[in-house]
Amino acid sequence: METNGTTRTLGRSGIEVSALGFGCWAIGGEWQDADGQPLGWGRVDDEESVRAIRRALDLGVTFFDTADVYGTGHSERLLGRALGRRRDDVVIATKWGNVFDADTRTLTGADDSPAYARKALTASLERLGTDHVDLYQLHLADADPVRAAELRDVCEEFVREGLVRAYAWSTDDPERAAVFASGEHCAAVQHRANVLQDAPGMIALCEAAGLASVNRSPLAMGLLGGGHTGRRVLEAGDIRNRPPAWLSGFGDGTGADPRWLARVEALRDVLTADGRTPAQGALAWLWARSPRTVPIPGFRSVAQAEENAGALARGPLSGEQMAAVDRILGR
Ligand SMILES: NC(=O)c1ccc[n+]([C@@H]2O[C@H](COP(=O)([O-])OP(=O)(O)OC[C@H]3O[C@@H](n4cnc5c(N)ncnc54)[C@H](OP(=O)(O)O)[C@@H]3O)[C@@H](O)[C@H]2O)c1
Repeated sequence: METNGTTRTLGRSGIEVSALGFGCWAIGGEWQDADGQPLGWGRVDDEESVRAIRRALDLGVTFFDTADVYGTGHSERLLGRALGRRRDDVVIATKWGNVFDADTRTLTGADDSPAYARKALTASLERLGTDHVDLYQLHLADADPVRAAELRDVCEEFVREGLVRAYAWSTDDPERAAVFASGEHCAAVQHRANVLQDAPGMIALCEAAGLASVNRSPLAMGLLGGGHTGRRVLEAGDIRNRPPAWLSGFGDGTGADPRWLARVEALRDVLTADGRTPAQGALAWLWARSPRTVPIPGFRSVAQAEENAGALARGPLSGEQMAAVDRILGR
């Protein structure tokens, strides 16, 4: 699967990507659900986001993950603008399944129907300014598996029509992922994985089924970057300031959880031993975890883009460092 240290192949699709993707959730800017729960990461500077994407391209990053719902369409538009004529140099992953109102930047519901999948794909292509999506992902993590099997077949239709090259389910449930894995052009699972939150069941499935393991939240939503001390105050519009039940590691209005920060601190020496920054060490842990993994850290600045892309050249942690991590975390 690994052609060299800095590229990986998306499952059985033959699509080659940089071993690091860029996650485009945060750059979508502020949006919320109907109850006012923030779903973005606070305010962002679009021009800085565009510069960060272009810097990533210059540094060899060829994989970008977004979703129609991030910033209710804004992330896709921004990515399309930043890529411009370089669109064919990269692999674009986006997602569908959530319903939203772009005028009020509000998530309004979910739709797992085949008709909505086609409508959503058409809208994503328009926002991204392209005629195909490389990796199309079902964003409804807990969707009904029977309905999902229909959506898998719809994705096969999209492939036949040339609108999509490969597809995936974004879910943390290996049984659900297996429903998609049986489709010929299923190439990946997108799931949470980072040094603090391993995903052994899902990684085993990816290895057995020949899928890429696309890792969301590879920096534990910023905690592994090392910049969250107990004193860092998060913006009101930052989802981490009012974490929903599924979001671990942050308290309600209180920032990073001290118990999580203690584990981050305990790992610091081993993750940074070879001159890596903490974020680079966290990415290197994922590459060492399996030859299938492709972490997709989020970013909001050129500096973060440079630091994260810089991890590629340093490659995975050593076997000894991996064992040290397990010892420190009591695994
Ligand atoms: N399918 C899904 O349902 C789903 C869910 C979650 C995420 N995702 C995808 O996965 C991507 C990444 O996951 P994520 O956004 O949850 O979190 P993440 O990648 O674990 O953390 C990203 C955050 O870490 C901080 N950061 C980035 N680079 C850093 C560096 N070099 N040093 C220090 N801090 C750094 C930034 O926030 P601060 O600087 O503000 O701390 C950044 O926004 C998303 O963008 C999205 O594409 C998908």
